[in-house]
Amino acid sequence: MIIIAPSVLSLDYSCFEQQMRDLHASKAQWLHFDVMDGHFVPNLTFGPDILKAFRKASHLFLDVHLMVEDPEFFSDVFIDAGAQMITFHTEALDNEPQRIMDLIRKIKGRGVKAGLTVKPNTPVETLLPYIDQVDLFLIMSVEPGFGGQSFIPQSLEKIATLRKLIDQQQASALIEVDGGINGHTGQLCKQAGVDVLVAGSYVFKDDIIAAVESLC
Ligand code: DX5
Ligand code: ZN
Repeated sequence: MIIIAPSVLSLDYSCFEQQMRDLHASKAQWLHFDVMDGHFVPNLTFGPDILKAFRKASHLFLDVHLMVEDPEFFSDVFIDAGAQMITFHTEALDNEPQRIMDLIRKIKGRGVKAGLTVKPNTPVETLLPYIDQVDLFLIMSVEPGFGGQSFIPQSLEKIATLRKLIDQQQASALIEVDGGINGHTGQLCKQAGVDVLVAGSYVFKDDIIAAVESLC
């Protein structure tokens, strides 16, 4: 069963209530929350109080993607605010294995699921040592920072590689893909073995319920 995670980066905040009603009437199971600090990526988005508001307004699973320079600090802040999954970039910890493992343990120690991700130019092999440790691997299929970009086709090979290794090792980590997902690219990712589709601009451009349905 594929999980659809609309990215609220593209939600129209001028009609929040209606958009939330549509999301709740759709087949979406998660809400994807893109946290950007203006340093790790050249854009600024949400702080923890916005996540708290989503926690009050929705029963959906809150999937937080940290694009910040200091995930060791901000993981706690967003867990306090209601995050149920925290995904962080290995690059933000200079790809240092000890720091990565410590942060995975810290997140899980707080009873929250831990996800790991890399930017498109970081090899997917960087993720492999953590295959038994994490709940999710996020494949970035655009350069992080902005919604509405085009899907990078090489992401499909990364998904297929991870799918094979996860299955071979009988690991339970989910594979999520984020960036440029629409009806067509979503289908290709499903064929490559993805478990969670993040979609922002495609879901919120018009009919939310129909767009989510077309990704299932
Ligand atoms: C990019 C974000 C994505 C983005 C996806 O940094 O991580 O989640 O919102 O947006 P679309 O689906 O428009 O590419
Ligand atoms: Zn994201």
